[in-house]
Amino acid sequence: MKRLILYSVVVGACLGLSVGTWAMNDPPSAADDDAQLEFLAHHWQEPIPPQGKPPAHFSSIEASLDPENCAVCHRTQYEDWSSSLHSKSMGPGVIGQTMELIHNDPKTALLCYSCHAPLAEQQEKVLKKDAPPSKFKRKRHFSVTPPDAPGIWGNAAQQFKTHRAFSASLQQKGLSCAGCHVRGHQRFGPPKRDGSLENSLPAVQLPHGGAVRTAAFERAEFCKGCHQFEPNGAALDGKLLENTYNEWKEGPYAREGKTCQSCHMPERRHLWRGIHNAETVKQGVSVRFSLDKERYRIGEQVHAEISLVNTGVGHNFPTYVTPKIVVRWELVDADGTQVNESVQEERIGREVTLDLTQELFDTRIAPGQSRTVRYVRTIDRIGLTLRASVIVIPDDFYIRFYDAVLPNVKVKEVRVLLEQAIREGRARSFPLFTKDVAVS
Ligand code: HEC
Ligand code: HEC
Ligand code: HEC
Ligand code: HEC
Ligand code: HEC
Repeated sequence: MKRLILYSVVVGACLGLSVGTWAMNDPPSAADDDAQLEFLAHHWQEPIPPQGKPPAHFSSIEASLDPENCAVCHRTQYEDWSSSLHSKSMGPGVIGQTMELIHNDPKTALLCYSCHAPLAEQQEKVLKKDAPPSKFKRKRHFSVTPPDAPGIWGNAAQQFKTHRAFSASLQQKGLSCAGCHVRGHQRFGPPKRDGSLENSLPAVQLPHGGAVRTAAFERAEFCKGCHQFEPNGAALDGKLLENTYNEWKEGPYAREGKTCQSCHMPERRHLWRGIHNAETVKQGVSVRFSLDKERYRIGEQVHAEISLVNTGVGHNFPTYVTPKIVVRWELVDADGTQVNESVQEERIGREVTLDLTQELFDTRIAPGQSRTVRYVRTIDRIGLTLRASVIVIPDDFYIRFYDAVLPNVKVKEVRVLLEQAIREGRARSFPLFTKDVAVS
């Protein structure tokens, strides 16, 4: 399990940034800005406090944190969310890694939960009230510390107790509606579409007392706590392992006022499509294929090129170390048989070793930039077809990582989950581009 813990560094980071950090990255231009960033620091404080008792006049549906109950009145958001990865953030790979951790090393498991199942009600353990003062001050980072180094919540498993408000079914729902919208049973949301912050009716006449509306929901910083490591977080080659917000901030889209929501929640849809969705990737990346000639004679060299252009991805393509894009070439003869030694594959992305100690290469494509892969082969017969493809493997790192750790996993339940994660990960690969051209 030690390697599993080590692994967590890839994804482990910092939820709940301090106002200080935000203020530093984004010089506030107005008092509104300050107020919104302060709202976010409080909204995403870590850990999110338990909701407590619902107001006495709430019906059981209003009091419920369960997305199925929100769905009674917010059907569209529910259907979108159900199809999104936020609703699957407690998938087999995550549970496979946290189910033992929550007993052996609760602080690390709670760190995982802070992004994958962030509500107190989704977490089976809490820090005891009388535990030694936490080093955690709303600002935290996760780095390669030996398991016995003092952690942000202190070390000892005895400092944690079983959480009475814990709901296993809510935990399975992952990043649910309430994780983003509900604090102390109060609903928080964006301004109305006309920009107003008022409820339609007096709060007492509305389900769940209406909502508190703030433009903070429309800012990229709303997403930052889970999609950006802190400046002192885990890094390789001087680059943070999770840097999506900064990539966006330094790129053209932040200047144009295009936020994460503009691309990932168009029309406020709750879809959050990304690297796992072929249409989304096609919208953000164009593939250009070229050959220097139409037909080649025996003895001539075919010169082919594929360029990937980041035309509409708001950050590096891809942004994380986990996905890979494979540009693949081969020659096949007239009966479709592969020509010996004609296969060439090039991986694009940021490749790190499975123990996260080394970066092997970083060929990600920044906004507006492109990357070209060339293929040169001598034509040795007629009737050859050049077959080119670009394959996206969204879960490449995870698949390889689970494959490597499986032989050492003793607990059967964990094995079953990780095997499921490998199968699901493999099934998520898709072609972005394919082309067959007769070349001789
Ligand atoms: C509480 C933490 C949290 C917050 C806040 C959050 N996310 Fe996520 N997000 C996650 C996690 C965890 C995943 C991975 C889910 C999985 O696959 O298990 C994820 C996945 C995604 C993906 C999926 C990409 C893909 O195809 O792999 C996108 C896109 C995304 N988030 C965008 C956003 C945007 C935009 C916001 C802000 C409106 C946001 N997220 C806010 C935790 C968060
Ligand atoms: C700072 C927020 C954050 C923390 C903390 C965090 N993750 Fe994640 N995790 C993400 C995001 C965002 C993604 C989606 C992007 C990606 O694939 O890396 C993700 C993806 C994953 C995935 C692949 C998707 C899936 O559902 O299978 C696994 C597995 C995972 N995390 C496990 C963990 C584990 C285990 C921990 C704790 C050791 C952890 N994460 C801590 C944000 C976080
Ligand atoms: C990752 C965080 C996140 C999750 C999970 C989430 N939302 Fe939202 N929601 C947002 C953000 C951000 C906005 C504002 C988007 C914008 O302004 O572009 C929003 C907007 C809304 C709105 C206003 C829509 C409108 O058209 O004005 C409603 C209602 C809502 N969400 C309900 C839900 C429900 C119900 C769920 C669960 C099924 C849910 N949300 C899950 C972040 C989230
Ligand atoms: C019984 C119906 C009902 C249930 C259940 C319900 N809501 Fe609402 N919600 C409403 C109505 C009606 C409004 C609009 C208030 C207004 O017009 O000012 C609203 C407003 C909101 C808003 C503000 C954005 C907007 O569209 O005005 C958010 C965010 C929200 N609800 C989230 C949730 C979440 C999350 C849940 C579940 C935990 C939930 N609601 C459960 C009826 C409901
Ligand atoms: C201009 C549009 C645009 C903006 C702005 C944008 N994204 Fe993306 N994002 C995309 C596209 C297109 C993809 C699919 C290609 C890819 O994976 O890089 C994507 C992919 C992702 C992924 C999938 C993981 C991966 O490795 O690529 C995550 C997570 C994500 N975005 C989060 C965010 C967050 C958080 C922000 C804001 C800080 C943001 N995005 C801003 C267009 C955008």
